[in-house]
Amino acid sequence: MKIITAYQEFKEFRNTLESISFVPTMGNLHKGHMALIDKARSYDSHINASIFINPLQFNDASDFNNYPKSLDDDIALLSKHGCDSLFIPDSSILENIKGIKAPDTAAYLCGMNRPGHFDGVLTIVNKLFEITKPTRSFFGKKDFQQLTLIKNFVKENNLPIEIISVDTVRELSGLAMSSRNNRLSESDREKASKLYETLSSIKDNSSNLSNEIIKSYKDELTKKGFDVDYLSVCDPISLKDLEDFNSKPILVAIAASISGIRLIDNVLID
Ligand code: PAJ
Repeated sequence: MKIITAYQEFKEFRNTLESISFVPTMGNLHKGHMALIDKARSYDSHINASIFINPLQFNDASDFNNYPKSLDDDIALLSKHGCDSLFIPDSSILENIKGIKAPDTAAYLCGMNRPGHFDGVLTIVNKLFEITKPTRSFFGKKDFQQLTLIKNFVKENNLPIEIISVDTVRELSGLAMSSRNNRLSESDREKASKLYETLSSIKDNSSNLSNEIIKSYKDELTKKGFDVDYLSVCDPISLKDLEDFNSKPILVAIAASISGIRLIDNVLID
């Protein structure tokens, strides 16, 4: 696997390739990220991944500074899964970067308490797209709102990039894989599976939903020690909370912290 850190060098390398399947990440890679690489392998193209911990999308300096780093393991994992090249830009990628303002969809769910987060995501993804000029790019459904915003951004700006979405990879307990899971204590990790249990239970009872029922699920999580940022039953396109629970499809999305570690997950009801 070729590793490139200088972004001028990456641009030159890009000119030697025809099509590129691009997987942007912030590193500390796990099986969830590898599902994106594995999916990319089903296309007959050069696979490029990137690792850049993007300061623009963190609201909290300590969250940014404590973001887990495991570069040697990341490189080994990517090679094992057949990734052809890895781009690891340094912070000079941020110099004179064109800021992107996320649309209204960014104000719901994770945008409610993380102002500017999705501006930061779109700004870096746009810059990475400019450099890597991908034919297609892969994103996980675990970050459903991010996926939606990127799909819309590509469409509205007529970028010639196909956005491919990949199902959420879960631990045996149901907990969605995340770089943050390693920071959970053993008992919190066990408890954290309750998030997917809650989403699944709402999905199973989707014919019988009301605001009271959703609130009772939320209260139950609070009682179990979660600090629930949101539990939203919403429209998967606008991401606005539903008023009519009989409409379909429905997105059920959650963000909750346990011992200060924020986790997100979602399920789609077709
Ligand atoms: P990061 O959190 O490293 O995630 C990189 C990609 O892996 C995202 O598309 C995310 O949705 C996907 N992913 C993470 N966990 C997953 C899981 N359990 N199952 C399936 N896919 C999963 O998302 C980012 O980085 C950044 O915001 C980025 C897009 C790189 C911009 O900085």
